Amino acid sequence: MESIYVTRPFLPPLEEFTEHLKQLWQTGIFTHNGPLLQQFEKELQDYLNIEHVVCVSNGTIAIQLAIKALELAGEIITTPFTFIATADAIMWEKCTPVFVDIDPETLNILPEQVEKNITAKTVGILGVHVFGNPCDIRQIDSIARQNNLKVIYDGAHAIGVMVEGKTVFSYGDISTVSFHATKLLQTFEGGAVITTNGSLAQKLRRLRFFGYEGRTITDVGFNGKMTEVSAAMGLVNLKYLDDVISRRKVLYEKYLSQLSACPRISFQKIDSQKFNYSNFPVIFETEQDLLRTKECLNKSNIFPRRYFYPSLNTLDFFPLKRSAPNSERIAKTILCIPLYDSMDEESVERVAQIIVDANEM
Ligand SMILES: Cc1ncc(COP(=O)(O)O)c(C=O)c1O
Repeated sequence: MESIYVTRPFLPPLEEFTEHLKQLWQTGIFTHNGPLLQQFEKELQDYLNIEHVVCVSNGTIAIQLAIKALELAGEIITTPFTFIATADAIMWEKCTPVFVDIDPETLNILPEQVEKNITAKTVGILGVHVFGNPCDIRQIDSIARQNNLKVIYDGAHAIGVMVEGKTVFSYGDISTVSFHATKLLQTFEGGAVITTNGSLAQKLRRLRFFGYEGRTITDVGFNGKMTEVSAAMGLVNLKYLDDVISRRKVLYEKYLSQLSACPRISFQKIDSQKFNYSNFPVIFETEQDLLRTKECLNKSNIFPRRYFYPSLNTLDFFPLKRSAPNSERIAKTILCIPLYDSMDEESVERVAQIIVDANEM
């Protein structure tokens, strides 16, 4: 039986990709803000209806660039229920992550916990739109304004998500996104830093390119560039993004209708006008339930993923120790089950049935 993994990359028609590669062979321009990159950024700006999209080499570098550009130095309040990259980026920029607890239903950082943990050392808030589900943007932005803090949103999973008629990336000072192979819009590896602030965008462009403004070096920059090959993949895939989201919606709703019959599991509460169905997380009552279910799936060659596990506040190498009971409990009981556009409906039914059977008692 063919294995089913938690995800598979979206693959566009190969000819559409190779058509762009011909251009690369003709121009010999492979990187350095080349024509394909410029076109990709322009098309992303149009798609998102936002002014400034700065593409970079991956979603982790995107967060680092955001922290650099905002010149943050001190404590950054963030969520422990995220991928390690969010906290790594904070540490690499010599800031200190302060992990505060999440809402156990939306899985996002709790604004009241953010507010409670602000100290004289706090310089910013790094919210994560977990699995594409928007944070409580209104509250977070208002807490930040009242306390003179910068806000970065890690929207690694959030392409295509809208809040109050606008892309989710239009909130806070800067948003970031990942275009990693497993994401809805993939460029092999890649990401972007997004802002509505023109001078910040210009600074991000300089920092991405060794600190150059034209031929003058004005800042301590680094190499965060996206290659033309990645931009080519992005350009092709962007045309299919809405189809990918629609297909995932069908599969997501199919899972939901089959699994809702199971009283011992629950689901992420989504708060979005237009969602992107980036993952299908299942929350079990206990870790034993999760492990038993995972084993049943593995026996049928189905490989879900414990995403995100463990809760980052439990890792020893982060300097500030805090408990975050909701995040710790969720991290132990959540499993992302397979969901990707090329998955067939029979496979969704099969995965769901195994989960239902493993939790019938
Ligand atoms: C929440 C979150 N932030 C950041 C990243 C980092 O993105 P990248 O893998 O493109 O560096 C990821 C990757 O999956 C992620 O899930």
